[in-house]
Amino acid sequence: MSTTAQKGTVYLVGAGPGDPELLTLRALRLLESADVVFHDDLVTDEVLALVHRHALVTSVGKRCGRPRITQAGIHALMIESAKAGQSVVRLKSGDPLIFGRAGEELAALRAAGIAFEIVPGVTAALAAGAALALPLTDRKSASKLIFATGHHAEGKTSAPVWTGSLPEDATLVMYMPGRDTARIAEELRAAGVASDMPCAAISHAARPEQQVAACALQDLDELSCGPAPLMLMIGRAMAPLLDGEAVETLELPLREAFESLTDKR
Ligand SMILES: C[S@@+](CC[C@H](N)C(=O)[O-])C[C@H]1O[C@@H](n2cnc3c(N)ncnc32)[C@H](O)[C@@H]1O
Repeated sequence: MSTTAQKGTVYLVGAGPGDPELLTLRALRLLESADVVFHDDLVTDEVLALVHRHALVTSVGKRCGRPRITQAGIHALMIESAKAGQSVVRLKSGDPLIFGRAGEELAALRAAGIAFEIVPGVTAALAAGAALALPLTDRKSASKLIFATGHHAEGKTSAPVWTGSLPEDATLVMYMPGRDTARIAEELRAAGVASDMPCAAISHAARPEQQVAACALQDLDELSCGPAPLMLMIGRAMAPLLDGEAVETLELPLREAFESLTDKR
């Protein structure tokens, strides 16, 4: 495996939760050598600061009021760039294979006969666990870990995040939960989840602006969550947040790491 980005190849790269220190070495080497980078909105400036200064960097994010780029448009950009002989990084927050439409992008690349490689990243749930010093599994109380989202295919954006029963010993991580915690609380109650089940809302996990709020399910309707990006975690593994044992954020070290990396540019 070559350490630098190869011409005509598309790399689906995980950018992690935002802190450049959490990139893989492979991701870093590709960012430093790719001709073209197409990135999502959640990729931070600190990660983008590592891209080669001659690379063409384009946001293909679909929010924040920018003109909406279609998924087909993203496919076309990647394919045309690779066919033009450029090395292409498709940079996605967290891990590229978790809730990132990678399946559609890989299908398009395969259909066009473009070589590709996938570089994993630290998904937001795992970054949150680390930043909070909070194991997501527990030998006594949490033997299952479920990643879920209510954000499905277009036209079904209000689909429930959780339906059916939820095992008592599961940690349920909800990506893209939306802001309607009352609705989610209702879904969980309908799933038979106990009213004392610990719930946590983690905003900007593993970033300097990280915020955490926790409560029992009975109070989830009223929970004041921080701004997006936001995830919810439900399960007995969250109990230390209610007991006040965890939650120490790594605010200062993270801020220093961000600043020192940005200063090097
Ligand atoms: C389109 S999904 C992409 C997930 C990404 N591929 C990953 O593995 O983390 C975006 C959602 O991930 C969650 N997310 C991403 N980064 C986050 C962060 N730093 N803190 C909290 N949630 C985050 C939020 O729920 C956000 O709406």
